[in-house]
Amino acid sequence: MLEATDPAPLTAADDPAACVSDSPLCFQRVTLGFGPRILLDAISFTLRPGETRILLGLAGMGKSTLLKLANGLIRPDSGEIFLFGQPIASMPEPALLDLRRRTGMVFQESALFDSLTVRDNVGWQLIERGVSSETIDRRVHRALSFVDLDNAFSLYPPSLSGGMRRRVSIARAIIDKPDLILYDSPTGGLDPVTSHTINELVVKERDAYKTPAILVTHRLQDAFTMVTHRFDSQTNAMVPLPKGSFDPLTSFMVLHEGHLLFDGSTDELLSSKDPFLKDFLA
Ligand SMILES: Nc1ncnc2c1ncn2[C@@H]1O[C@H](COP(=O)(O)OP(=O)(O)OP(=O)(O)O)[C@@H](O)[C@H]1O
Ligand SMILES: [Mg+2]
Repeated sequence: MLEATDPAPLTAADDPAACVSDSPLCFQRVTLGFGPRILLDAISFTLRPGETRILLGLAGMGKSTLLKLANGLIRPDSGEIFLFGQPIASMPEPALLDLRRRTGMVFQESALFDSLTVRDNVGWQLIERGVSSETIDRRVHRALSFVDLDNAFSLYPPSLSGGMRRRVSIARAIIDKPDLILYDSPTGGLDPVTSHTINELVVKERDAYKTPAILVTHRLQDAFTMVTHRFDSQTNAMVPLPKGSFDPLTSFMVLHEGHLLFDGSTDELLSSKDPFLKDFLA
């Protein structure tokens, strides 16, 4: 029990490096360098339950690296990362595997195995866990149906378009009902129409399941589509929010020259006076 004279416990609001206990993901002064370059310098942020954080930044600023740190694919030089409340910075790989399984990752280049069918790509995690073949078939069908690719079950990735590959990658990320999704540039390299279908899927996943997520995007337009729309389950489509309102559970981070230059709401981003941000958003 706290004594009256004890200082109040730090909260994330008092100290950006403090992690709240129910946070699915929290970075505490995470630093990583490659050779002489410090890529990420004391990065701290807290993702809250149900929240989607859009991560923006110029090419090469470390966005993909930050996502890989988030699920322990790479380790920081210093600082701590809490994944579902567990410190993972130096957690041994076997213990980390269980936590990583609870995260779905959509890699920047889709990262599908070309020699495996869509069924085996999407069901990969379940195959590795020894889940029965019938269960895998059923769950792959359900995941493919979510991304509107029911007919791709037996196809191989080389025969798919870029947009279809990205949808397969999303199906793989969500098949095990993850507690956190990390999307790395899911619309990168896609045309505007195909990007729209991918944005709609991300918004559908966000609004249907409230799965916390970090989403990297190069396309500001996509980021603003996500904050100005919601998924309508009646029509099975993304619809605009009333003019001037933004999804309250989606916010932004901007990574620039090793630091989080911005971490806040859409309103705060749009009203920022920071010269770089104003230029970036123009
Ligand atoms: N394993 C590694 N070894 C050495 N350098 C690396 C490694 N991984 C990433 N880098 C370097 O770190 C920098 C940031 O890479 P990262 O892929 O995280 O950037 P990004 O913000 O995702 O860029 P993009 O917008 O182009 O996807 C790059 O200069 C990259 O070369
Ligand atoms: Mg990247």
